[in-house]
This record gives sequence, structure tokens and C-alpha cells, in this order.
Amino acid sequence: MKIAVLPGDGIGPEIIHEAIKVLSALGESFEMEIAQVGGAGYAAHGHPLPEGTLKLAKEADAVLFGAVGDYQYDKLERALRPEQAILGLRKELGLFANLRPAILYPELAGASTLKPEVVSGLDILIIRELTGDIYFGKPRGVRECPDGPFAGQREGFDTMRYAEGEIRRIAHVAFQAARKRDRRVTSVDKANVLETFQFWRDIVTEVHREYADVELEHMYVDNAAMQLVRAPKKFDVIVTGNMFGDILSDAAAMLTGSIGMLPSASLDANSKGLYEPSHGSAPDIAGKGVANPLATILSAAMMLRFSFGRMDAADRIENAVKRVLAQGLRTPDIHEPGTTRVGTKEMGDAVVAALA
Ligand code: IPM
Ligand code: MG
Repeated sequence: MKIAVLPGDGIGPEIIHEAIKVLSALGESFEMEIAQVGGAGYAAHGHPLPEGTLKLAKEADAVLFGAVGDYQYDKLERALRPEQAILGLRKELGLFANLRPAILYPELAGASTLKPEVVSGLDILIIRELTGDIYFGKPRGVRECPDGPFAGQREGFDTMRYAEGEIRRIAHVAFQAARKRDRRVTSVDKANVLETFQFWRDIVTEVHREYADVELEHMYVDNAAMQLVRAPKKFDVIVTGNMFGDILSDAAAMLTGSIGMLPSASLDANSKGLYEPSHGSAPDIAGKGVANPLATILSAAMMLRFSFGRMDAADRIENAVKRVLAQGLRTPDIHEPGTTRVGTKEMGDAVVAALA
């Protein structure tokens, strides 16, 4: 079990450190190799996804990823910005299926900005297509506007596109995931306006014929955004494209009170995966020892489950996290009166202690 560990920028190294601690405490023999990525990759090797890092990620059985991005790299040209590291890894490793669970732990019901009755018991799974759509479509760029009232001016443009096979494979992932849950899939699109997403709807409907035991509902993305904050518990599995999934998964994450709690997995066709917290690099709190390491620790659990088939070890970590929450330990992002405020390291230590 070889793991490429890519801490990245901001709070990335701190939270990854805690996840490594938890993995090491399991008493298994993991081979872990650390490499730089994002701004750290640029600083060390002149590129956000250095060749050596990409090679390591390709060789490894799984990638454990922290976060990338920092203010000081914001002015670099796009190809050198930290975000290119994660986009490049997704593309190069063929990680097309992004699983973003949004689970509300009962202890954290008060941390959500929504009323407890709206979110308590929330357990939804967002499956976001990750290597297609307007994110990677070509052509893209800035050109001279060919016609209309702004003809002759510069215009920015991107290309939204999905190939049939791309839609089929993510639809299969969604229906199969639903079979392990409540057997309901909501496919989110914009079929009323966009050709790409009318096509998406048609293909998802076709694939659904193979899954008579799973319920399929189609929903426009604007309505889905509204339903997510109105009655989020009505959803089971949401499947959607790259762009809509980016937006909806942040909204879903916040339902749970803290994006600091949510892990994610990005999988290829053979369950090789990249595992990362759903949150970003939070450079404003980097180095202060206050970041919540639980999303990263839970990402390591997802890695054990999806890439290594080690359900037992994954359960052990997840149960340990539940135990520390039950003990009342909280990093500042989820702290409420009556609970015990702890830092990044103490939280990691508590999870290690709770593994036993
Ligand atoms: C995410 C992030 C990335 C995305 C950025 C950092 C490129 O927002 O993983 O959701 O847009 O996919
Ligand atoms: Mg995002």
C-alpha cells in the first residue's frame, strides 16, 4: 500500500501531519512518500505540479492530498498557479468521479447555520464529474468578439462539453453508490437552457434502464441549489457535472456546519484515488495550529475504504472521530459554548487515542 502524500500549501502540511499520525497509529505497513505540490511545488521546482510529484502520484496506489493555494501565488500566470496542481492531477490520473459526502454529525447540529430540524441526520452524497465540462473544454481563451453589439471588442470564452462515455461512466458510479444507500439519485443539470445538459439528461436516463431498483429524478441546478438549503434531507445521491458540482458541493458542505469536517475522494476507473479534505488551504490561519484536521483524517479513512478495501480500518478511524466529537473536543471552526476548544495537534492526538 504505497501512498503519495502531497501536503501542499497553507494549512495543508498541518492537517496532513495529523492524518499521517492517525494512519501510522493503525499498526499497518503503509509506504508513504511526501512530495511538494501547489505553491510549495512552484517554490521548490518552478511548477505547481512538478514532474517528480506527478511521477510519484502515478506510481502510488493512492494519493493523500492536503490543499493548495496561497495569496503570494495569486498573481502568477494561470498555468503556474497552485490550482493547476489539483486540476492536473485529476486529468493526468483520470480521476473522473468525485465523491463528496455531506454528513451532519449529531453533536454538530448546532454548528450549522440552518435550523437543526432542517439538517439533523443529514447524509447526502454528491458525485461530481471531475475531468470534463467547462473546466477542461477547448477552445478557451480571450479573442476578438466576432459579432453582436460588442463585435471587435475582446471577449473571454470557454467550452462546455460532455462526451457520451463521460456521462455514462459517472452515471454508473452514481447508481452503484445509490445501491449501497437509499437507492435514490438526483441528476442535476440545466437541460432547459444548455445543449450539453439536455444531452446529459438523455444519457443518464438511458443508463438508468440498467438500474430499475434505483429511483432517478432530474432537477435543474437552480432548483437544486434552492432545495439544498430548503429541504436537504430529501436528497440521497446527487450526480452532476464538474461546474455545478463544484458550486453545489460547497453549499452542501456548509449545511453540516463546517467544511472542516468533510472528506472527499476522487476516483479513476480502477478505484485508484486521490483523497483530500473538501476545504481549501485557508492561508489566513496557516501555521497557527487551529485548523480542523478531521476532514483530512476522514479522507484517509475514505482512502482505506475505496482504494485499499480496508473497511475495518476505515471504520476504526471514523468511529474514533465520532468518539472525540462525543467527548466534546472542538477546533475553533466547530466550537460552541459548553465544548472544549482544542488545536490541530490536540485533535489529532485525541483521534489517535480514540483508535484504541
Ligand atoms: C474544488 C476546488 C477546485 C475546483 C479548484 C481549487 C480548482 O474548488 O476542488 O472544489 O474548482 O474544482
Ligand atoms: Mg470547489
